[in-house]
Amino acid sequence: MRTTVSVIKADIGSLAGHVTVPKEVIEYAEARLREAVETGLINSFYVTHAGDDLELIMSHFKGVDSEEIHGLAWRVFKGATEEVSKRLKLYGAGQDLLKDAFSGNVRGMGPGVAELEFEERKSDPIAVFMADKTEPGAWNIYLYKIFADPFNTAGLVIDPRLHKGFIFRVLDVKSGEEFNFNTPEDTYDLLALIGTPSRYVIKNVYRRLDGEVAAAASTTRLSLIAGKYVGKDDPVMIVRAQSGFPAMGEILEAFTTPYLVAGWMRGSHVGPLMPVSLKYSKVARFDGPPRVVGLGFQVSEGKLIGPVDLFDDPSFDHVRRVASEMADYIRRHGPFMPHRLGPEEMEYTTLPQVMEKLKRKVEE
Ligand code: 13P
Ligand code: 13P
Ligand code: MG
Ligand code: MG
Repeated sequence: MRTTVSVIKADIGSLAGHVTVPKEVIEYAEARLREAVETGLINSFYVTHAGDDLELIMSHFKGVDSEEIHGLAWRVFKGATEEVSKRLKLYGAGQDLLKDAFSGNVRGMGPGVAELEFEERKSDPIAVFMADKTEPGAWNIYLYKIFADPFNTAGLVIDPRLHKGFIFRVLDVKSGEEFNFNTPEDTYDLLALIGTPSRYVIKNVYRRLDGEVAAAASTTRLSLIAGKYVGKDDPVMIVRAQSGFPAMGEILEAFTTPYLVAGWMRGSHVGPLMPVSLKYSKVARFDGPPRVVGLGFQVSEGKLIGPVDLFDDPSFDHVRRVASEMADYIRRHGPFMPHRLGPEEMEYTTLPQVMEKLKRKVEE
């Protein structure tokens, strides 16, 4: 039996602006997913949040892109919006639910999705990463480090199962085209695309040895669906670990540099991605800085065992300190690029309205 892990998320309303998800929403989602376990639709679940995004982590036997599983997530998001967020007047109630009627798959409807289906090994550790105040392309540099950089992942050099390299599947979010790159030999071509994370997003990684899937990331760009800024597409990803995949510690090693990502205040600013424990899975300064939480699970007989809060560790204290220093430095740029995003990305924000007014002023 092949097990599927689905992480489906949406911002459906938050507490005190875009800061966090209140416990009432979490409890609502837990109750609905508990019912889904009772009816046998899913095997197990864990509900959590990354900042103001509600995260449903589920295991089941229905495969990826299952209408039943996506329908369940959609009903949880809709129900939580109607029965909790609106009643409590939470901020941005139903923010990421861009369509009214469910049409078989939540992709393209606002929520973010990462799913992995696999035959369980003797032991199957996975890591689920969930970020707030950034976009799907933010994972590009981390996935590159984990699966293609031997200075990060020792196994690429010393483990024969990793030594053959990995296949990166990249999506052009504008055209919808997808490309495959084999590392190490296609490294420079891969970097030529994924160095533009606003447009080229790594969707999956596969092991070259046997084609086995190693990672899945969400690729939803809300502004491209809605045609305007409606909140950032705060992303999720699932990475498989150990026994022929990078070790859990190699996966976490990638997060020891707080790379600069797009998002933060009003989805319009570049800032450092800070790895935090669930306790700090909320935003503060300038609605940030952008944050990532990581949870480790064992997948066992179709069920999720865990989680362990992966960044809840003193070995990441200095990373958080560096991220805070970077935040200080880049914040001093105020409204100037490269802190504020470039004109192409700003098109989807409210800046064009200001520019329009300015144009009239110049003409007067
Ligand atoms: P595996 O090959 O069993 O994943 O072990 C690697 C390791 O020891 C990580 O430190
Ligand atoms: P979210 O995308 O997390 O809702 O944040 C929106 C925002 O404008 C933060 O300043
Ligand atoms: Mg929000
Ligand atoms: Mg968010």
